[in-house]
Amino acid sequence: METRSQWGTRAGFILAAIGSAVGLGNIWRFPAEAYGNGGGAFFIPYLFALLTAGIPILIMEFTMGQKYRGSAPLTFRKMNRKTEFIGWWAVLVAFVISTYYSVIIAWAISYAYFSINLSWGADTEGFLFNDYLKTVAPGQIGNLVPGVFIPLILVWIVVLFILFRGVKKGIEIANRIFIPTLAIIFLIIVIRAVTLDGALQGLQAFFEPDFSSIFSGEVWVAAYGQIFFSLSIAFAIMITYSSYLPKNSDITNNAFITGFGNSSFELLAGIGVFSVLGFMAGQSGVAVDEVVSDGVGLAFVVFPAIINEFPGLNGLFGFLFFASLVLAGLTSLMSISETYIAGISDKFNISRGKAVLFGGGIAALISLIYATQGGLFFLDTADYFINQFGVAMLGLVEVVLIAWLLRQVKNLKNHADELSDIKLGWWFPVSLNVITPIVLGYMMFDILRLNILKLFDTPTGNYEGYSDTFILFGGWSVAAAALIIGVFMAATKWRSKEA
Ligand code: PHE
Ligand code: NA
Repeated sequence: METRSQWGTRAGFILAAIGSAVGLGNIWRFPAEAYGNGGGAFFIPYLFALLTAGIPILIMEFTMGQKYRGSAPLTFRKMNRKTEFIGWWAVLVAFVISTYYSVIIAWAISYAYFSINLSWGADTEGFLFNDYLKTVAPGQIGNLVPGVFIPLILVWIVVLFILFRGVKKGIEIANRIFIPTLAIIFLIIVIRAVTLDGALQGLQAFFEPDFSSIFSGEVWVAAYGQIFFSLSIAFAIMITYSSYLPKNSDITNNAFITGFGNSSFELLAGIGVFSVLGFMAGQSGVAVDEVVSDGVGLAFVVFPAIINEFPGLNGLFGFLFFASLVLAGLTSLMSISETYIAGISDKFNISRGKAVLFGGGIAALISLIYATQGGLFFLDTADYFINQFGVAMLGLVEVVLIAWLLRQVKNLKNHADELSDIKLGWWFPVSLNVITPIVLGYMMFDILRLNILKLFDTPTGNYEGYSDTFILFGGWSVAAAALIIGVFMAATKWRSKEA
């Protein structure tokens, strides 16, 4: 008898996959990446990466999950017993991401609340670091910050409650509500943004193509990096979600919808962000170039400053912007956390409730580190290292394993073709067997070269100029722990008969 949870509807699965993909990366990573890597010309490497890596790997992972019907560790184990550790490694990378991703959502909740009366004031940078985060020097921990701690607990209660309710009654329903709401909020924001004074200058800066960028290896690496991060591939997520697909469900079409759906959100975000940046530049009489930023700085320093200048309904616009971060973040956090909940319930044969309590509980506890006064620097470093070694390295290992060592591309292609409306052409094996391993191999080489050079350089050569000790403990050891604990998890005994 089939006892594994299942999605209720095809739309439910697609919305959940899009919900996972659409996250902070679309809103605060894509616009600046595109701008900094050739503007309008970036779409060429970006589309190439989407079609040769993003969608093929999405199809590959959907097929693996659907065919082997297991969490990432169980799926890898079923493909080949020796490769279970790769599934755990991916799960642990997802685990680490969940511990700080939750904290950023907590900040966004606070800022949605602050929007109501613009309580960040005129000095938005001072407000973020001193008044809100109460930041101490890098390496120090300090006290828990109540203003972060309280929304953080709220985030975990909401996410763990949804996961506790299960795939159909929890994750699917939440995404059916959150994703359409997010799309509507996004449209409202973008429409308002493009009608601001100066929006056109912003958009011109964003789309102006620098075609020489196409000849730079760095730009191609940036495009592949963005696609990997943005589609949440190689993190065990899409394998886990597709393990709940019904036996006869379509794969290829679902992957195309997910891939293009995510890119549409990304493009919209780029248009919205650059419109308001154009407005801001116009207000302060500087070039758009001078106000471009990404990440935490864009969302929590630049945006509040722009909202201050808004011509009316400032509070509402601010609230909608931070609400969109919260919704995009929550649906991604659910998917990241589901990877370890599925992994431990498969392996130790425990109920969903226990897995949520145990896995989610530990993640929530660890996330408290990032809610302390020194949390920002830990968050920043963990994020940098886990992305460098999560994104490229796991992707490379996964593709080389499946394509070159296990030679599974053909099998997976046949499985997908049997079930799907769209049949896979020659581009699919060529992408997975040739293009992606080569590009990712180059990317990994580049990342290692840069990081190792930095580690042995002067102290100021480290990431963000942090000290060697801090980089070692907050960065390298976090990235290494994901692999080491993964190997250890694979070595423990299976309590369920499934494997
Ligand atoms: N895909 C998400 C985004 O674009 C980020 C993410 C990456 C989520 C990895 C989970 C795991 O923001
Ligand atoms: Na994304």
